[in-house]
Amino acid sequence: MRLENKSVLITGAGSGQGRAAAILFAQEGAKIVVFDRDEAGASVTVKQILANKGSAQLAVGDVSKSEDVKSAVALSEEAHGGLDVLYNNAAIWSADNIDNYVTDLEEENWDAVLSVNLKGLYLCCKFGIPAIIKSGGGSVINIASVAGLKASRSRSHAYSASKGGVISLSRSMAIAYARDNVRVNVICPGGVDTPMLQPMVSTPDKYEKFAQSHPLGRMGMPDDIAKAALFFASDDSTWVTGVTMPVDGGFSAS
Ligand SMILES: NC(=O)c1ccc[n+]([C@@H]2O[C@H](COP(=O)([O-])OP(=O)(O)OC[C@H]3O[C@@H](n4cnc5c(N)ncnc54)[C@H](O)[C@@H]3O)[C@@H](O)[C@H]2O)c1
Repeated sequence: MRLENKSVLITGAGSGQGRAAAILFAQEGAKIVVFDRDEAGASVTVKQILANKGSAQLAVGDVSKSEDVKSAVALSEEAHGGLDVLYNNAAIWSADNIDNYVTDLEEENWDAVLSVNLKGLYLCCKFGIPAIIKSGGGSVINIASVAGLKASRSRSHAYSASKGGVISLSRSMAIAYARDNVRVNVICPGGVDTPMLQPMVSTPDKYEKFAQSHPLGRMGMPDDIAKAALFFASDDSTWVTGVTMPVDGGFSAS
């Protein structure tokens, strides 16, 4: 098992990619804190892990609220004896499901997206990294997006800005905490078949067109991202930090 007895905190683990990672990491021996503001979704993830004889704790909360983040980190430390891996995955596409350009973007929408996607990640690192250092070092995995790497006519500018910020902040943190043995790496998914993507692929035609925009000719699945994250979480990547890795069916290469 590649994560035996590692304590892992995953944000947004009540759905899509976060749930897939939580289940895969638990199968690899990790003890998971499933952190999500959606209690029902997070409970499903915890139940699935427990049903597979894995170890999981539920933390219901909002990554943009410091008290909720502190509680989730404390739960990892109390229930699992420390924190080895912080997986920052929670994000929203838009506050109103509209792909707004800056000139049409309401301030509240900008604030809502940046608050979850960038401030939330900052808070999780602010409180999570000291816990990882206390545990002797470990891995931070930050989920950005191809939207942080490439411009597109069909993207929310707030979302793109937040994901560009995640990439830049991650590089800075990788350098800052390297001598504390904390590695910080980024995954940039392409289109992945999760609830977040549904507004953009609402008909079979739209789904197929979007799938075909990836050179490998299909949509990503949550497990595609979880398997890449497993490498960053495990000791297979102990000399890898500051990396931004697209996992996108070739999308960003074109
Ligand atoms: N699906 C895609 O095509 C795609 C592409 C590129 C990047 N991403 C990124 O992948 C990550 C996972 O997204 P997904 O596709 O699994 O989406 P999803 O909507 O299925 O899951 C996101 C989860 O985050 C939770 N969440 C949202 N705001 C939160 C908050 N403030 N506090 C705590 N939890 C919160 C939601 O409740 C949900 O369970 C996100 O960072 C997303 O931006 C997704």
